[in-house]
Amino acid sequence: MRMRVAVLVLVVYVSLTEAAGCVSTSRPHCYKNSTRTEEDFTCEWDKRNPEKSQTHTLHIWDSENKKILTHKNCCKQAQTNILLEELGVTERKTDIWIQTQVGNLTCNSSKISVILECKVKYSKPQILRMERLAGILNITLDKPKDNKGAKYEIRWRERGSEWQNATFETKDRTKDLYTLHLQYTEIYQIQMRRQAKPHLHLCKDSLHALWSDWSPVVDVPLEISRTPVIRWVENNKANGNRDITLSWDAPPYNESVGGVKYNLTISVWPCKINQKKMDHFTVNQTYNTSITYSEARISIFATNTVGSSPRKQITIPAVKHLSYCDSHMSSNVNTKAMKTCLEWYKLEDGETRPEKVNKSYNTALKDIKVENFVRHYYFLHTVKKKHYQTAVMCPFYSEQRAPINGPANVNISDLTHESAVVSWIAIPVMEQRGFLQHYVIWISGHGNTKVHKVPAHNTSFLIKDLHPATSYTVSIAGRTEAGDGPNSTVNFETHSKEMGTETQLIMAGLHHPDHLCCCPLVYYNLLRSCQETEAVT
Ligand SMILES: *[C@@H]1O[C@H](CO)[C@@H](O)[C@H](O)[C@H]1NC(C)=O
Ligand SMILES: *[C@@H]1O[C@H](CO)[C@@H](O)[C@H](O)[C@H]1NC(C)=O
Ligand SMILES: *[C@@H]1O[C@H](CO)[C@@H](O)[C@H](O)[C@H]1NC(C)=O
Ligand SMILES: *[C@@H]1O[C@H](CO)[C@@H](O)[C@H](O)[C@H]1NC(C)=O
Ligand SMILES: *[C@@H]1O[C@H](CO)[C@@H](O)[C@H](O)[C@H]1NC(C)=O
Ligand SMILES: *[C@@H]1O[C@H](CO)[C@@H](O)[C@H](O)[C@H]1NC(C)=O
Ligand SMILES: *[C@@H]1O[C@H](CO)[C@@H](O)[C@H](O)[C@H]1NC(C)=O
Ligand SMILES: *[C@@H]1O[C@H](CO)[C@@H](O)[C@H](O)[C@H]1NC(C)=O
Ligand SMILES: *[C@@H]1O[C@H](CO)[C@@H](O)[C@H](O)[C@H]1NC(C)=O
Ligand SMILES: *[C@@H]1O[C@H](CO)[C@@H](O)[C@H](O)[C@H]1NC(C)=O
Ligand SMILES: *[C@@H]1O[C@H](CO)[C@@H](O)[C@H](O)[C@H]1NC(C)=O
Ligand SMILES: *[C@@H]1O[C@H](CO)[C@@H](O)[C@H](O)[C@H]1NC(C)=O
Repeated sequence: MRMRVAVLVLVVYVSLTEAAGCVSTSRPHCYKNSTRTEEDFTCEWDKRNPEKSQTHTLHIWDSENKKILTHKNCCKQAQTNILLEELGVTERKTDIWIQTQVGNLTCNSSKISVILECKVKYSKPQILRMERLAGILNITLDKPKDNKGAKYEIRWRERGSEWQNATFETKDRTKDLYTLHLQYTEIYQIQMRRQAKPHLHLCKDSLHALWSDWSPVVDVPLEISRTPVIRWVENNKANGNRDITLSWDAPPYNESVGGVKYNLTISVWPCKINQKKMDHFTVNQTYNTSITYSEARISIFATNTVGSSPRKQITIPAVKHLSYCDSHMSSNVNTKAMKTCLEWYKLEDGETRPEKVNKSYNTALKDIKVENFVRHYYFLHTVKKKHYQTAVMCPFYSEQRAPINGPANVNISDLTHESAVVSWIAIPVMEQRGFLQHYVIWISGHGNTKVHKVPAHNTSFLIKDLHPATSYTVSIAGRTEAGDGPNSTVNFETHSKEMGTETQLIMAGLHHPDHLCCCPLVYYNLLRSCQETEAVT
């Protein structure tokens, strides 16, 4: 019943004021933005009537001297700035109100009675930086415009709990810092506001103190404790360029609330000139880039509102080193039209890139002096329109020699009455002392010597057309452009003609053809060991 009455009253009130045609505004709210005496003032009020044609006039009345200080026709807005010159004295009590006019009707707001000089309202505090270490949160704030100390109120809560609050004061001119003690495993929200400290005796009256607006609510996560886990995938490798997709994990919720950004540094250009050290600041958890064929280093750290994670560094290795020059790549290099970077290093074992490499943007390959007889490797990178690519990659020697050793573990297998297989372990790059062109194999026996050349990547060779029951010597050496290395030698004797086929198996008593499965080699002595195995099982 009571409810119905209240509604009725409201309706009557609205219709009456509409009928009156002029609705007064709220009382004005006047302040300046800092304690500086040269500061101008701002007055604001609420229009309670959306009527478009209304205009407002601000009146400021010196109540001591009974005279108008200023009146300002301030249009249709609900705010106006008052220049200090229009006021003269601001340290005396003044009455301020707004007169509204609609057509030929006028109405006045209620008055405020204030000492303008005391009405300071700072901008809302801005949190410049937060640093959290477990239960300690250091907050750095912007200073008010006048660079003065201020009175602050801070409030904080665990999500979903009640606000707790505290006040503190800061000093003139020093940094505005505050240390808040929190539960170290909890995430929080905080908010702050501030007011000027009274700067005139007249202003001691706390009624004059104006709080700034509250700063926005800010989430306070835990500090990020671990380095990001980062992965990379090579998507496409062509024309001296590799597309790489990097991706990484976000920290857990309690560390990422309030937002996380990732600072990614990618270095792909080894030379100082035009160094490509890309810095990326992103909120994404993935990044696509393209790199050269050389090693690339990537480092990343995560940043939230209270600090940064430790930095994680990864290396994307150079593409597999070649054992020959990629001449196809070099055909499309015009080093005159592009900026280039030459990168070179010792590649003793043909695989391992040293920690430190040599690089230069203005040296030509022919001017490089490197240790003789040792394999080195070079890349020629180019950059054109921020497109970085590898134009040439090549192993090289300043001077070559013959290999220092022959191949190791030279061995004879698959021996029959007319053939044998010779196998060996490739000469290691370190012992090659030049580019291995091929292996040279001499087979001596039965009064003559035959020579064969075997490609450098082979490690076995089938010797055919041998005489039965004959002794042979096999010598094998590596050859570079500087000549043959030392021989590795092995002797063997071919089987006699009657021995060396399946008939031997039958002779040995293995009648069932299934036994062939376990005895692939048909040497006499191996057959014997086969028989022994048979006997055991
Ligand atoms: C005070 O600050 C507010 C908000 O920054 C601004 O709109 C206003 O113009 C300033 N007033 C004066 C008098 O500078
Ligand atoms: C005020 O304006 C209205 C029309 O807008 C008019 O009827 C009325 O006579 C005016 N009153 C005076 C006092 O001028
Ligand atoms: C509003 O204030 C002005 C200026 O003091 C005055 O002349 C006028 O009579 C007032 N009007 C009303 C409706 O109070
Ligand atoms: C907070 O500030 C104090 C004093 O400036 C300093 O000793 C402390 O190390 C800081 N703590 C953090 C987490 O930054
Ligand atoms: C905390 O807030 C309450 C309610 O706004 C207020 O009464 C009290 O004075 C504040 N306490 C401090 C220390 O600011
Ligand atoms: C933060 O969250 C992770 C994963 O949810 C949890 O393992 C860890 O204990 C939490 N840290 C603290 C300090 O509560
Ligand atoms: C990212 O980190 C690097 C190295 O610490 C720093 O120089 C750079 O300014 C950071 N970038 C951003 C946007 O913070
Ligand atoms: C990455 O972030 C940028 C803004 O920083 C955004 O424009 C872009 O769409 C994001 N990409 C992905 C794949 O999320
Ligand atoms: C990155 O590259 C991968 C593979 O080419 C593609 O699937 C993905 O959409 C790309 N991401 C962005 C952010 O461009
Ligand atoms: C780099 O070149 C200089 C001079 O050419 C040489 O003394 C140095 O050993 C080289 N360093 C490496 C890592 O190759
Ligand atoms: C030759 O090969 C056999 C079997 O493959 C092996 O047992 C023997 O150790 C090898 N000899 C040498 C010298 O490597
Ligand atoms: C290797 O053996 C072959 C054939 O016996 C011989 O002609 C050659 O001189 C030997 N090479 C070396 C370096 O001893």
